Amino acid sequence: MSESKGPQGGQGRSGVQDSAFLRACRGEAVPHTPVWFMRQAGRSLPEYLKIREGIPMLDSCMMPELVKEITLQPVRRHKVDAAIYFSDIMVPLKAIGVDLDIKPGIGPVVANPIRSRADLAQLRALEPDDVSYVTEAIGLLVAELGATPLIGFAGAPYTLASYLVEGGPSKNHEHTKALMYGDPELWQELLDRLSEITAGFLKVQIEAGVSAVQLFDSWVGALAPEDYRTRVMPASAKVFDAVAGYGVPRIHFGVGTGELLGLMGDAGADVVGVDWRVPLDVAAGRVAPGKALQGNLDPTLLFAPEAAVRQKADEVLAAAAASGRGHIFNLGHGVLPSTDPDALSRLVAHVHEHGR
Ligand code: CP3
Repeated sequence: MSESKGPQGGQGRSGVQDSAFLRACRGEAVPHTPVWFMRQAGRSLPEYLKIREGIPMLDSCMMPELVKEITLQPVRRHKVDAAIYFSDIMVPLKAIGVDLDIKPGIGPVVANPIRSRADLAQLRALEPDDVSYVTEAIGLLVAELGATPLIGFAGAPYTLASYLVEGGPSKNHEHTKALMYGDPELWQELLDRLSEITAGFLKVQIEAGVSAVQLFDSWVGALAPEDYRTRVMPASAKVFDAVAGYGVPRIHFGVGTGELLGLMGDAGADVVGVDWRVPLDVAAGRVAPGKALQGNLDPTLLFAPEAAVRQKADEVLAAAAASGRGHIFNLGHGVLPSTDPDALSRLVAHVHEHGR
């Protein structure tokens, strides 16, 4: 780590370390409850749809000026407490040469799914030069964000494996689970390679200046706890371990993970993201002491009348207060594309006013 970068430099100056978001991640007292939204950049914002017009998703991730602008859009509009770097969990795989695309309305599609040992040859280690555009974009962002923290992110080994093995989005993850149960050795090797790629991708982002990282294991809720513990958690733990030395908060999130929350914290997270199915005070009983919580308003609530949104947001805030943990307000999963942006802005204002 060079001295001018990372948590000591980059976003370390300019009051970022004292922001409500980073204070909450560390479980310290906050002036107001910090709030940001998963998938806040893009999708629901007209200014995003306009600037992305005619530019394929993966191309847009490789254009630093565009990435900077898209990342800043929700910060300007909603006054959220953190920016999330605009990219995708498939970017590092594309960067090492995996033949894949992100198709509008579908999601990631992989040309040659990984189902045999020979298929593993598609996965080599990620070098910083593979993603120089990421370093450049984060540099531009850190210079512009002032005291607002920038969150970096990556896909966790299981969720990346699910796209690589299925070849695209999947409801039941049948090929993924067939490989996990049918060829445990190949499965471990696949997850090991993915943990190295993911760790490498997070290191690039931290060295470029992000103030926190989130590991998205979006689809890991498909697993029973014992299978998670023995077949997946070690690979995710390697990722968290690899970036522990930087001292930036590590957030761990998945959907439908009520039964996994304790293990997801134990994998090495400082903050555990919770979906809307488990109240935060209940989640606190499942997650080891000392770890903060993030969440957890149902994203579909934003389609309900404002009074209902406020009431549910207050319930989230009350459960968070009862949990006694650091709390970062968020949705229980990403912003849905047809969400009214003004409903999000109103929610931010409400949380800032009514959070502790
Ligand atoms: O706040 C943000 O939006 C930041 C950027 C961001 C994107 N993807 C941009 C994107 C982040 C944090 C992600 C993470 C991501 N990508 C996850 C984990 C988060 C989650 O929702 O669980 C996953 C599973 C993916 C994979 C992925 N990428 C899917 C399933 C899809 C298609 C469906 C969808 O949600 O739109 C994508 C495409 C994608 N990633 C878009 C954006 C803005 C839409 C692309 C387009 O405009 O064509």
